[in-house]
Amino acid sequence: MATNTVTQRLQEAKHVVVFTGAGASAESGIPTFRDALVGLWERFDPAQFATPEAFRADPSLCWGWYEWRRNKVIHAQPNGAHIAIAELASHVPRLTVVTQNVDDLHERAGNQDVIHLHGSLHSPKCIDCGIAHTLPLPTDALPENGRRIEPPRCTACNGYVRPGVVWFGEMLPEDAWSAGLAAAEECDVFLSIGTSGSVYPAAELPLRALGHGATVVHINPERFDISSQEHFLEGAASVMMQKLLRESFGDLPA
Ligand code: OAD
Repeated sequence: MATNTVTQRLQEAKHVVVFTGAGASAESGIPTFRDALVGLWERFDPAQFATPEAFRADPSLCWGWYEWRRNKVIHAQPNGAHIAIAELASHVPRLTVVTQNVDDLHERAGNQDVIHLHGSLHSPKCIDCGIAHTLPLPTDALPENGRRIEPPRCTACNGYVRPGVVWFGEMLPEDAWSAGLAAAEECDVFLSIGTSGSVYPAAELPLRALGHGATVVHINPERFDISSQEHFLEGAASVMMQKLLRESFGDLPA
């Protein structure tokens, strides 16, 4: 239930930060990292692909997993949460979207200048020399015709092309992290949507916002412990964001 306090703070806010995790894209059909996977990848833990060591140990298996995810994203549409977040931008003086997601669903819903803390599925690069690589759109059959896909080779050094996402043990892109941190410390309302808050340093952002006096609101269908100063809106991102928008601004996404 959207509380009066949250709607009032949103109405008065000068700068709102929307911080999203995999749960914000779940209703677009992109599985979260904690979901039990079904089908082709059911015996795999997504975390096992998210390291440079995993890629080097089995490039085709790792690349196949990321191509499967890229394929899902390309065929997905922004959901009610992405649309409500884009709509919120027209009601508040300033809105910053900071995402842990490696899809482009916020941009496709209409948000500009999204801060991607964990990179993007759409910006692959050479694992050896780091040069950016352009990928063709996946064909319909790909990668459902098999798990393993050999990664393309770098045109400059012949190294393997890897996904442009941040893996465990790697640094976040410096500009994205400093922009996300600055926004968290500067905003007056911080909406944390669909994240388990288990991966650092991204998970520090709600705490930084709270420490700088922002109203921090968590939106998630799974309740977790928060401090007495924070707010929890229990429910799916699309339902809760549309409700929050309606209660705060009397508006519904088109
Ligand atoms: P997780 O998969 O850890 O958590 C997803 C969260 O979304 C959980 O808390 C779910 O309860 C919640 N959720 C599920 N369905 C939802 C819905 N319809 N509406 C709202 N919430 C929903 O995803 P992240 O927190 O994003 O990192 O994970 C953080 C990072 O861990 C990811 O960016 C990725 C992963 O390893 C890298 O790849 C580096």
